[in-house]
Amino acid sequence: MLSQIHINQFRNILDAELFPSQGINFILGDNGSGKTSLLEAIFVLAMGRSFRSRFLKNLVNYEHSRLTLFARSLDKTPIGLQYDLQSGLQIRLNNAPLKRLSDLAFHLPVQLIPANCHQFFEQGPKYRRRMVDWGVFHVEHQFNYHWQSYKKVLQQRNAAIKKHKPVSEISLWDKALTEHGLIITEMRELYLKELIVHFRPFFKKLCPALSDHQFSLRYMRGWNKESELAEYLQMNLERDQALGYTRSGPHAADWSFRVNDADPNELLSRGQQKLFFLSLSMAQIMILAEQQQRKNTLLLIDDLSSELDWHHQKTVINTLRELPVQSFISSTNRDLLSLISQENEKRFHVEHGIISEKGHDAINAGPDVVE
Ligand SMILES: Nc1ncnc2c1ncn2[C@@H]1O[C@H](COP(=O)(O)OP(=O)(O)OP(=O)(O)O)[C@@H](O)[C@H]1O
Ligand SMILES: [Mg+2]
Repeated sequence: MLSQIHINQFRNILDAELFPSQGINFILGDNGSGKTSLLEAIFVLAMGRSFRSRFLKNLVNYEHSRLTLFARSLDKTPIGLQYDLQSGLQIRLNNAPLKRLSDLAFHLPVQLIPANCHQFFEQGPKYRRRMVDWGVFHVEHQFNYHWQSYKKVLQQRNAAIKKHKPVSEISLWDKALTEHGLIITEMRELYLKELIVHFRPFFKKLCPALSDHQFSLRYMRGWNKESELAEYLQMNLERDQALGYTRSGPHAADWSFRVNDADPNELLSRGQQKLFFLSLSMAQIMILAEQQQRKNTLLLIDDLSSELDWHHQKTVINTLRELPVQSFISSTNRDLLSLISQENEKRFHVEHGIISEKGHDAINAGPDVVE
């Protein structure tokens, strides 16, 4: 959770300081005002990368050569990030240079619901793996070690294949690949079991119209389920040599949902798909809170109002009020203001990159001019 955020020369936000509420923060403004940019800045602070652009240079305000982000988490830990077109990226966590991006991610768990999240089902397996791995990373502290080790070994095996090394040299890596790979698989399978259990009640609440539907989840581990991984790698070595890389293993895993034994993409409406994605995210937040007592997850919902009718927007907000999460919800729909009632909620207005908190430094509230 963040108690203070300072954004400087980030996209169209030149200089903004916010003291968000620990509950829900409503970010309201017209198209192109800077709402997604604000959520993006928070995401970059937590992950060291953007969800909109592969290159940090695109985030630097056009008129400047450097962006700076600063935040303080609830336990007062300072986080500073600077990206300079010349000298690149620098991140400081608790006043010391950051060693690994995963340290930052661990410190600030963040869930993002992008405006186009209804396209979730059309995204590739990499996207879905990333979603599960987010959860496993936070719940199983050994996961990152095994995943990083697995990736290193996989790189070595692939390099040996590319250099046309003899079979004995390629297979040398299979033992370590299998050891880490099986642990990763087991952790993911366990997590997904939890995920479906936690997902169901949320979806029932957000989308009662489909409460009689059956949801199931299938995990494809990345290799033929009849075989052991080590054996499978051996059996398919010739194929890997022909391809020039190791095709099978947990790095090629995927998972899918079924609704009444059908593809959710075909069965659910766009709004229902958004509620589905929101329920998944809420389930992930709950698992983290229950298993690790982490109640500091950030949830960024970009453009809540798109695809959702008024009733469903209200249900989402009421559900969030019961979750251990700090939310930032953007929308162009000013009617949402009528929903802010709780003490633990704040409203921010964004206009041409200037962010003001309602009732505080209302920078944009110029005098009424009568002509
Ligand atoms: N590097 C940059 N420097 C300056 N301005 C930028 C930069 N990148 C994007 N912009 C501009 O920042 C503005 C804010 O964009 P943003 O996507 O945050 O708007 P938004 O409030 O989310 O709008 P919408 O409601 O349409 O989603 C846009 O006008 C965009 O063109
Ligand atoms: Mg936007």
